[in-house]
Amino acid sequence: MSMMDIIRERRSVRTFDGKNISDDEAVKILEFAQKVENPYDIGITWKILDAKKEGLSSAVIAGTNTYIAGKLLRVPHAEEAFGYSFEKVVLFAKSLGIGTTMIGGTMNRSAFERAMNISGQEFLPCVSPLGYPAKKMSFKETMMRKGIKADTRFDFGEVFFDGSFDNPLSESKAGKLCEAFEAVRLAPSAVNKQPWRLVLCDGKVHFYEKRSKGFASGDGSDMQKIDMGIALCHFEVVAMELGVSVLLKIEDPGLEIKNDMVYIASFDIG
Ligand SMILES: Cc1cc2nc3c(=O)[nH]c(=O)nc-3n(C[C@H](O)[C@H](O)[C@H](O)COP(=O)(O)O)c2cc1C
Repeated sequence: MSMMDIIRERRSVRTFDGKNISDDEAVKILEFAQKVENPYDIGITWKILDAKKEGLSSAVIAGTNTYIAGKLLRVPHAEEAFGYSFEKVVLFAKSLGIGTTMIGGTMNRSAFERAMNISGQEFLPCVSPLGYPAKKMSFKETMMRKGIKADTRFDFGEVFFDGSFDNPLSESKAGKLCEAFEAVRLAPSAVNKQPWRLVLCDGKVHFYEKRSKGFASGDGSDMQKIDMGIALCHFEVVAMELGVSVLLKIEDPGLEIKNDMVYIASFDIG
């Protein structure tokens, strides 16, 4: 299966079939996570957790006892790095037939932080259950997906731009990179807000975050920056699959932006 196929088929899974994933699969996922690098070169410590043993729970998850969580130092770009790396793990799990849901809010966070031995400068952005998707979603999951319109995404021209934010990008203008943009469009995001806005400009793709209210917390962390890391991951893996090399740079091109937008990073297109 190609990365693009995996991205197209992935969805958050909240109802699992009740069987634990095998030890072998748990080790494979952990080893994969430990090897994933991110363009910010920020180290992440991963653990597979037994929910019963550690007293972990999420009100939205049913039918699995296994979680994966990661912790890292609270340094600049930590959230983007985490989102990028975690999404690679999510896509790898999907390739093994294992379902996931990134969870940043609906869990007993302090129990997860205890299980991960979070110390002073560290934080735990998100966790995910790991398990085999149940044949049928629970009523709760179905209602939740409806509530946040989890099956819809903005149109291509609403989130991707050509040269400046005044010109929507067409699929034909995106050319050989069309599928890489499409992979960003399909990405998961907190409450499905899809905060990514991309501008194709002079051989570069600039990534911006359109911030929604309520995601930045008092300690300076911003859950939507995790979404931005996921977007960078999707763009990169599909560009590579298309034979296009991309190089991450943080060089604000100074485009005119609205107050609710923040520049994140750019890819130089090879
Ligand atoms: C950073 C992040 C945090 C999330 N936090 C939660 C959460 O706390 N609870 C939850 O049920 N889903 C959570 N989600 C899953 C999103 O709701 C989901 O990705 C989005 O609705 C799109 O649906 P899909 O993943 O099925 O495509 C989170 C997703 C991301 C990327």
